[in-house]
Amino acid sequence: MKPSDIEQKHPRLYLEVCSHSEDPCLPLHTSIALFLLSYCECKSFKVFLVCTKPGSPQTFKSQLPESLEVCDIELEALPPLVRGCRLPAVLDETGTLCRAGLAVVLRHIINTTTEADPGRNDVSALLGFKKTCLKACAEVSRWTRLCEIGIPSAVEELLNNPTVQYLQLPLAILTLEQRLAEPVKVHNDDKIRRQKLKQQKQKESNESSEGQGKADAESQPRQSVQACDGLELRAALAKLSVDSVPSAATRETSEIRKVKTTDLPPLEHVFAEGLYFTLTDVVLLPCIHQYLVRGSIQAHAVGVLYRLPHLLRWYSRVQEVPGVLRAAKACGITFFIPSLSSPPGPAIEDIPASQLEHEHQEMTTQLPFVGGPRPTMTKLQENGIEAVFAPHPCPAWTLPWDHLPEAINPTEGKMSNIRAVRKRQQLNNLVAMVTELARPGNTVVDFCSGTGHVGIVLAHALPDCQVILIENKEESLVRAQGRSAELGLENIGFIQANLDYFTGQFHIGVALHACGIATDMVMEHCIQAGAAFVISPCCYGFIQNANKFSFPRSPRFQDTLTYKEHMILCRFADQTAVQLPPERRLIGKQCMGLVDLDRSWAAEAHGYSVQVMTMEPESCSPKNNMLMGRPAQKSELEVGVRQVEAPGHN
Ligand SMILES: *[C@@H]1O[C@H](CO)[C@@H](O)[C@H](O)[C@H]1NC(C)=O
Ligand SMILES: *[C@@H]1O[C@H](CO)[C@@H](O)[C@H](O)[C@H]1NC(C)=O
Repeated sequence: MKPSDIEQKHPRLYLEVCSHSEDPCLPLHTSIALFLLSYCECKSFKVFLVCTKPGSPQTFKSQLPESLEVCDIELEALPPLVRGCRLPAVLDETGTLCRAGLAVVLRHIINTTTEADPGRNDVSALLGFKKTCLKACAEVSRWTRLCEIGIPSAVEELLNNPTVQYLQLPLAILTLEQRLAEPVKVHNDDKIRRQKLKQQKQKESNESSEGQGKADAESQPRQSVQACDGLELRAALAKLSVDSVPSAATRETSEIRKVKTTDLPPLEHVFAEGLYFTLTDVVLLPCIHQYLVRGSIQAHAVGVLYRLPHLLRWYSRVQEVPGVLRAAKACGITFFIPSLSSPPGPAIEDIPASQLEHEHQEMTTQLPFVGGPRPTMTKLQENGIEAVFAPHPCPAWTLPWDHLPEAINPTEGKMSNIRAVRKRQQLNNLVAMVTELARPGNTVVDFCSGTGHVGIVLAHALPDCQVILIENKEESLVRAQGRSAELGLENIGFIQANLDYFTGQFHIGVALHACGIATDMVMEHCIQAGAAFVISPCCYGFIQNANKFSFPRSPRFQDTLTYKEHMILCRFADQTAVQLPPERRLIGKQCMGLVDLDRSWAAEAHGYSVQVMTMEPESCSPKNNMLMGRPAQKSELEVGVRQVEAPGHN
């Protein structure tokens, strides 16, 4: 087969290779992806190693599974859609849909493997109960953030700084250790817990009657760091081979059957997410392996390893999972059993509990609030701050809906008539603003695109622009891709990713009804790229401090309101539903205007000029605010850039 034939038939997986240090070492994200490919025995992808620095990728040969077809590619030679994303990334057969970011790509590898071979239950089981393993994106899920970003970057930092003191345990590693120490909740775990109780009771009676030490006949091959965790481990392994709870032909005594669920012994973690081996373990394995290899080499670090008993046990157990050794070997990973021969260091409790505590609280601070919005609004008013709505520049502008192809119209699907009318009105507003901002050759990004109502209309309305749809939800994006193919649109691309993983340049960012802090994330992303934006916010009530954002956003609001007071505005900004009494809705609209005023001032601190408007007609949505922002003095600069870049884009 010629390379071009292969490229057309296979999705392409792009992995980064670059080494900051002298000794060649794959970035952890790349090692993880290769390990998963190897575990899945997946051959559906054509793998490209992207060299971010000139060098010889041959040095990585021992870390590349032989069964994979791998070739090198220069950064400059990447397809534009892929170049705009962080790696790893997968480009589909059509070359129009790019999936980016570790968790998304890994989940896709699993999906592809099981699509090709539905018999691989071990592979589909990696996605866990309800197939949600690492599905929630890192911005909203602390667990995904820890596994996808926290641990790999903590380990990478150690690897890249050989001189760094190993005595300091990275917070991410500690957090994982703590997590592994917690009891496990699994769906339907009664049966296993009853068995555990039975085993405990037997053991107790054995020890009291015989008193001759434990002769645990069931020899675990590796006892060095492993305590007696027989039952959970057997349950987990049994699941992998026959997909059932351990057989053991147990007839429970009535004494054990009668024990209340709440009194049953808790189950211990076997694997990262509980009892079963999942994608999370696959992600953690190359990271923890590297960490322990480094740790064991440094003699003085052994004391540090003593602080990680649960992690060490996890590391030993993972090696027992069928297929793991084979997969590791193919990737040049040689496991070892950490031996702890010197005296233990300080106990785990000694380490910065306060720090862990902090990490725990960060997302859960939902402040209770009492009272109405009046005092807060009055306070703002006294400081000369009031909601201002700029006049709509073209209230009557509309797309020629009757002349547009069927597939563009939001009547398509199961949308009710009245909703479709409103959706068209909302789209009129956004498209009008984008049309005013857009110049030929511009790239327009539809963030949180869903099934593509906005992006597809834009691609059709602006044939001289490139439109990129970004959405984390695969099902929605695949539908958008289908609709676009039906329309034969050629100036459109699709990215399934957390928006953080989109790093490409663009000129205009759009988002219709970006929920809660999604609005702030999109604004931030546009500001970083120096792009204009047109955003209609939504779900003000979901706004709260998050990993990267704190509220209020602007210096002036910060000087005036506390976080709690600002949250009051957000809660009341959600009260604009048509069923509510008019005075309530009026207050709701004022609060919406104030929350968005704070946002627009935050953008103006970056040199933007921002207008908060009301979409026309205002009945098109209870969330009818629209923010339009233009970056500072772009106009002249922009013309120059366009003239230089235009030929290269085609
Ligand atoms: C793979 O993903 C597609 C698209 O989300 C989905 O429809 C399909 O059911 C998945 N396949 C498997 C085997 O999970
Ligand atoms: C207790 O002793 C019995 C018989 O001596 C043996 O079958 C059983 O496995 C032992 N149980 C445990 C938990 O050691």
